[in-house]
Amino acid sequence: SDEECDAKIVAAKSKLGKRLAILGHHYQRNEVFKHADFSGDSLKLSQMAAKTDAEFIVFCGVHFMAEVADIVTDGQRTVILPDLAAGCSMADMANLVKVKKCWEEISSVLDPDQHVTPVTYINSAADLKAFCGSHGGIVCTSSNAKAVLEWSFARRDKVLFFPDQHLGRNTAYMQMGIPLEQMVTWDFMKPRGGLTDEQIRNAKMILWKGFCSVHQMFHPNHIAKFRERVPNGLVISHPENDLEVCGKSDFVGSTEYILRTVRSSQPGTHWLVGTELNLVNRLADEMKAKGVTVEFMSPMVCMCSTMFRTDPQHLAWVLDSLVEGKTVNQIRVPREIAQPARAALDLMLEVVD
Ligand code: 13P
Ligand code: SF4
Repeated sequence: SDEECDAKIVAAKSKLGKRLAILGHHYQRNEVFKHADFSGDSLKLSQMAAKTDAEFIVFCGVHFMAEVADIVTDGQRTVILPDLAAGCSMADMANLVKVKKCWEEISSVLDPDQHVTPVTYINSAADLKAFCGSHGGIVCTSSNAKAVLEWSFARRDKVLFFPDQHLGRNTAYMQMGIPLEQMVTWDFMKPRGGLTDEQIRNAKMILWKGFCSVHQMFHPNHIAKFRERVPNGLVISHPENDLEVCGKSDFVGSTEYILRTVRSSQPGTHWLVGTELNLVNRLADEMKAKGVTVEFMSPMVCMCSTMFRTDPQHLAWVLDSLVEGKTVNQIRVPREIAQPARAALDLMLEVVD
């Protein structure tokens, strides 16, 4: 039962003491999130992972996050993902074979090593971060995409951005004023991305056609209806939403930014929030006591099913195993991938600071 699991988790945590750090992403369900020693968005959690002295990092999040934790700790910590099936459908929309093919196809039109900075959203497999690291590229998260793109354009005139078209487009258009006509979408299902030579030559941003299956469920009409009903309300969205949703929002930012912004609002404020349900429900409960109303953007249940895979049962199992001296579900990135991936991640951290 959930109570038994809870008791097991608490007991294992106290036995492991400072040897253990549990990191929890904001999209985790309450029953898991409450056990996290640290919480945050992808950037904050990767910085936490790099900083901790704990021997074991149990990552309540998704696969790419655990990979990043292993990379930034140089494999010196044991990083554990409670359920190995906790992936990210957006991260899976790009892979090394497809990205290499794209790079080669671009090179038939222009020399990508001179003209194109590959930028990968942190929601991607480690080998794609390594690809960026070995082609003069960099990683970004939802909280530093603008700084990373500015750095990229200062070096080369074009960016290939993967896997999330929306973070790329929203950041370039809304925060940097790059016209939409200078952006093209690379359809990875089509030869040459479905683009002509001229389109590739003229584009400033080449956006991989990936998206988040959770955020694609929010629509501009959800915002329009809210504005009608609550004229003084405020709308805040994650940049994985499309440009229409972000364009109609009052604020756009990472999960950490959303929490910070809503938490600092005055009593009486009424919010509509366009991001994953577990975060929004928890925030709504927290803010009720402060007289702030928080509403979920969609009438549908938009949950990240892979974040949801991490349940108290899996958490209790991996912790119990550690207590017994066994390591299960460890995430290890091979050194030849981790090294160039780390270079791209380190660059990101330097650019942000
Ligand atoms: P952040 O928490 O970094 O904003 O990212 C959201 C997300 O979708 C994680 O996969
Ligand atoms: Fe991936 Fe979207 Fe889930 Fe984030 S919310 S982990 S981007 S599928």
